[in-house]
Amino acid sequence: MTLRFAGRLDRLGTESAFEVLAHARALEAQGRDIVHCEIGEPDFATPQNIIDAATSAMNNGATHYTPASGIREVREATATYVAKQTGVPTTWRNVVLTPGSKNILMFALMALVEDGDEVILPDPGYPIYRSLVSFIGGVPVSLPIRQSNGFRVDAEELASLITPRTRVLIVNSPQNPTGGILTAKDCEAIAELATRHDLFVISDEIYSRLNYEGAHVSLYGVPGMAERTVLMDGCSKAWAMCGWRLGFGAMPEELAKRMDTLMINTSSCAAAFTQWAAVEAFESPESDAAVTAMVTEFRARRDLLVDALNRIPGVACHKPEGAFYVFPDISATGHGDRELAAALLDEVGVAVLAGSSFGPQGAGHIRLSYANSVDNLRRAADRIGTYLGVPVAS
Ligand SMILES: Cc1ncc(COP(=O)(O)O)c(C=O)c1O
Repeated sequence: MTLRFAGRLDRLGTESAFEVLAHARALEAQGRDIVHCEIGEPDFATPQNIIDAATSAMNNGATHYTPASGIREVREATATYVAKQTGVPTTWRNVVLTPGSKNILMFALMALVEDGDEVILPDPGYPIYRSLVSFIGGVPVSLPIRQSNGFRVDAEELASLITPRTRVLIVNSPQNPTGGILTAKDCEAIAELATRHDLFVISDEIYSRLNYEGAHVSLYGVPGMAERTVLMDGCSKAWAMCGWRLGFGAMPEELAKRMDTLMINTSSCAAAFTQWAAVEAFESPESDAAVTAMVTEFRARRDLLVDALNRIPGVACHKPEGAFYVFPDISATGHGDRELAAALLDEVGVAVLAGSSFGPQGAGHIRLSYANSVDNLRRAADRIGTYLGVPVAS
């Protein structure tokens, strides 16, 4: 039988990280030695106290369905955590728990965007934004995120992109793939525009705990924004819990009720024991200490990698303030980003992502994740330097 797929599937994109990882694994299966700099996931183990909380929850019967938006006590603990992080008074009624924060993004778009509505999103940016906006019938509009501007949002440029059809603005800080962050001033300027033009904002703050130069500034936390913003966050990056699948959103109560219906129609609920593990992540001092240790290690790796890359002629690497990615400009090497990413993997065994897979504005850059050991990052930089004709001997 020839399967006839619905046309909407053609509008779905993908995350090239998953594809490059599969290709890298296939090369490893043939005996090749690969340094993985493509993966967007902390290489640390989940803190033991969080694992213990999950196993004891399972032993105590947390193996059943829960209410669709999450267990009441866990929503309360999440609301307390959000209030502490952002300064916004938040109750359990504002919180929805989902299997990964991508669901919060999908549900917010489904709830708010009509066919033909414009959604402004960062470019380069997390590719799932563009993919899901197109999938649900919205029109993605690129907001350039430039290295020359420290990978921050240029509020004037943002203002120039707003039209009567603009409905939603997606903002991500700290940012994937650039590691850029928004300052308090940036957030205020964005908030002013969103309020003036009556836009709804999806503020993706999944990397909020991975900040190297100071405290995270939350757009959701700007006074007046909580009524027009969904905060998108989760346990994946802060506590090295990607495989646990727990995301959360904080939002106006009417939107939370709609998301509850969307959860009933899709996943039913996030896993029960994972929800209890999140309470341990939010509340225990041990979990906080684990985040601090991880940030210290990531900062050291960032510094090493940025210095090593900047020693390669033709490579200009901005020192990112957050997340665990660097996004060097490689245009002066004479290589295209897709060609260079493919060659680095095939020729010298370093898996990186092409900048243009994060949007047209990412062309001329590659993304490296430093969620890998210092030794491996040194090997990656050496191999890239060697491929480009200059061993960097970091
Ligand atoms: C910017 C950004 N947002 C959201 C996610 C999704 O995270 P999760 O679904 O694990 O919560 C990722 C994962 O890489 C990301 O980089």
